[in-house]
Amino acid sequence: MTKRVLITGGAGFIGSHLVDKLIDKKSYEVSVLDILEEQVHGKIDVPPDYLNKKVKFIRDSVTNHTILEDLVEDSDIIIHLAAMVGVGQSMYQIKKYIDHNILGLANLFDVLVNREHNVKKVLIASSNTVYGEGKYQCNACGTVFPELRPLNQLKKKDWELHCPKCGSKVKPLLTDERSPYNSSSIYAFSKQAQENIGLMIGNTYGINTSILRFFLVYGRRQALSNPYTGVCTIFSTRALYGKPPIIFEDGMQSRDFVSVNDVCQALILAMEQNIANGEIFNVGTGVPITIKEVAETITQKINPELKPIYNQQYRIGDIRHCVADISKIRNKLGYSPKISFKEGIGNLIDWIKTQKDDIKKPSQRAMEELKEKGLLK
Ligand SMILES: NC(=O)c1ccc[n+]([C@@H]2O[C@H](COP(=O)([O-])OP(=O)(O)OC[C@H]3O[C@@H](n4cnc5c(N)ncnc54)[C@H](O)[C@@H]3O)[C@@H](O)[C@H]2O)c1
Ligand SMILES: [Zn+2]
Repeated sequence: MTKRVLITGGAGFIGSHLVDKLIDKKSYEVSVLDILEEQVHGKIDVPPDYLNKKVKFIRDSVTNHTILEDLVEDSDIIIHLAAMVGVGQSMYQIKKYIDHNILGLANLFDVLVNREHNVKKVLIASSNTVYGEGKYQCNACGTVFPELRPLNQLKKKDWELHCPKCGSKVKPLLTDERSPYNSSSIYAFSKQAQENIGLMIGNTYGINTSILRFFLVYGRRQALSNPYTGVCTIFSTRALYGKPPIIFEDGMQSRDFVSVNDVCQALILAMEQNIANGEIFNVGTGVPITIKEVAETITQKINPELKPIYNQQYRIGDIRHCVADISKIRNKLGYSPKISFKEGIGNLIDWIKTQKDDIKKPSQRAMEELKEKGLLK
């Protein structure tokens, strides 16, 4: 029997890939609820061309209770991806991020609790940002979870983390799901709130809810017109314009870049297995990649003449390292990332080359806005 899946935010980057994968499986009927946020999609009134024609598309907001009542009634599974996604931007568009991200999710669970429905599963897209810096090792004190680096440390260009107990330098470890919350942006806080509301209401009413904490997702269809997301697209679009990547700090900060294909793998595994109910899972690769490596991989592929610029700037609120420990999702759900960074970035660049019209020097605009708000030093 086919199952009815509602994907909120399904016209976006991750959602549209998931739509394709579910439709290919032939056992799902897919509906998408999406507002087509201008910052992501540009000015459009109809779904983007890439959105699979076999979906039922509804242009509306997750904050609209009436619309959700109808959609929830017609769904067996809900995958909640709708969100505003700019970490830096969330620090000055506070109300907008709380409205879409927290009230949107609250609205969904309000409908799930107060209306009759057959929903058997809810997945919520969360983010590595809820960890802040994540997990580190101090030689003297053991495992520690440091706060963000203070401004006076960054001013001295002392980039690595210090132990919160003894002050000595610490080494990054892979961050697992038991690590404490340490949100340092409104965006991260909104994801933390989504997790808390989803699990609390899910447990109370027996609504099977799972949280997936995505690390840095990249791939085709990533918004190029949204200047607030995605170092891979920012470096790639600059390089295609003949401009070198601009690197904050010393470039040795590391992240976990996960291909959108592997994120879809994780979503489908969590959707199809009851063992995922009530649980939180990291979705990454477990492989640290430094920003310097990102810049070099991209310039090598596009224009090896371009030499990255290290201008010693830093962004307030940036973390130094955060890489996923993926043992839990690997062991419980059988997840195994398939796409290496080198392979994935090659695919991303091939696609960006076909999208030249959409590239409007976005990263410059974002930098100017961050500077104006005092968040770029
Ligand atoms: N891309 C990443 O690296 C990453 C990392 C961690 C978490 N996430 C989370 O994954 C989810 C999907 O992200 P994405 O990268 O595909 O972003 P995206 O911006 O491409 O997609 C989000 C979609 O949600 C829609 N949307 C926004 N507010 C809405 C509302 N109120 N009602 C209905 N639709 C709304 C937008 O129009 C957009 O199509 C988000 O929840 C995001 O926070 C993404
Ligand atoms: Zn210590």
